[in-house]
Amino acid sequence: MSEHLTASDHIAKAVALLREGKPVAFPTETVYGLGADASNELAVRKVFQIKERPYDHPLIVHISRLKQINDWAKDVPEDALKLAKAFWPGPLTIVLKKQPAVLDCVTGGQDTVALRMPSHPMAQSLIESFGSGLVAPSANKFTHISPTTAAAVHEEFGDTVMVLDGGASKVGLESTIIDMTAAQPVILRPGVITAEAIVSTLGKKVLSAKNEKTTTRAPGMHHLHYAPQTKTTIIDKKNIPAFLQTVKETDLPMVFAMYSDMELLDVDQVDVDYVKLPADAAGYAHELYRTLRALDGQHYKRIMVEAVPSDIEWEAIRDRLFKATGGIRGAA
Ligand code: TXA
Ligand code: MG
Repeated sequence: MSEHLTASDHIAKAVALLREGKPVAFPTETVYGLGADASNELAVRKVFQIKERPYDHPLIVHISRLKQINDWAKDVPEDALKLAKAFWPGPLTIVLKKQPAVLDCVTGGQDTVALRMPSHPMAQSLIESFGSGLVAPSANKFTHISPTTAAAVHEEFGDTVMVLDGGASKVGLESTIIDMTAAQPVILRPGVITAEAIVSTLGKKVLSAKNEKTTTRAPGMHHLHYAPQTKTTIIDKKNIPAFLQTVKETDLPMVFAMYSDMELLDVDQVDVDYVKLPADAAGYAHELYRTLRALDGQHYKRIMVEAVPSDIEWEAIRDRLFKATGGIRGAA
C-alpha cells in the first residue's frame, strides 16, 4: 500500500475489492480476518481456496449494527439479544438459527449461522462502509496459527490479498463462540469472554462443548488446528529439571516459552533458549500467537511451552495451547 493513502482511502479501496467479490484481510480485536462478501458465493469460495480450508467448516458473519442480526438469523432468543447487547461490539460470536437465504457455503450446510460484531475501529468502518455482512475466518492457511499482525497475514498469503493494517490485535485469541440454538447455551470455543461472564449476564447455567455431549457441529475445534510446524509440547514447570536431564543432541536447538523466570533452565548440561511471556492472562493472550509464530519461523527442533495456571481467565489460553500441541502433555 502506498504511503500517501489515508486510512479512509484504504477502506474505500478495500470496499471496492469486496464489492468485486475479492477477499480483503482486515484487523479485528481478536485476530486478523480474511473478509469477503457473505452474500456472494464466489467470493466466499475464494476465501476457502486462499485458506485451503475444507468446505464443510462454517464461517462467522461479521456485522456492524445490532439490527443486522435479523438479516442473517431468525427466531433470535431473548437471551441471545442480551448477550449481544452486553458484549458487542467485542470478542463474542453467537450461533443462531439462520435465515433461509444465508448461503450453504457460509454455514457448512447447517441450519445455523454464527454472528459477531467486532470492536476494532477499522473492522467496524470496513463493515459499515461495505453495508452488509462479511465472512471473516482467521487470515491464515488451514491449521496454521491465527495472525495477530498485518505482517503475519502477509507471511500467510503474500501479495495475493490486500491487508488493512490496524496494528497488533488487542486480544490475540479468537472470539468466544456460544451456541444459542439449544435449550441451554453451549460454549463451543472458549475465549476472553468467559463462561462466568456469560452466566452472570444471563443468570443461568451455560454448558461447555468440551464437557457435554452436544449435537452441534463445530468443525475446526479439533486438535492441531492452531499448531506450529515445529514439534511443540506443554511441560509443567516442576518437570523441567528432570526433562532437561533427558534432552538429546537431536532435540537441539530447543526453546522454552515461559511466563515464569528462567532460573530453572540455568543448568550446565544442556543449552536451551528461553523466551519470556507475560505472567498475566490478558498479556499472555496478546503475545502467544505472535511468539509461537516467531519461534516457528526459526531453526528450533522443539518448542517447550510452560503449562499455564488453571484459573478461569487462562481457559482460552489452555484451550489454544492444547490445540497447538495436539494435546501432548509432559515431556513426550
Ligand atoms: O475471533 C474470531 O472469531 C476470528 C475473527 C477474524 O473474527 N474469526 C475466526 O474465524 O476465528 P474461524 O473461521 O477461524 O473460526 C470460526 C469457527 C470455526 O471453528 C467454525 O467451525 C465455527 O466458528 N462456526 C462457524 N459457524 C458455525 C455454526 N453455524 N455453528 C457452529 N460453529 C460455527
Ligand atoms: Mg481459524
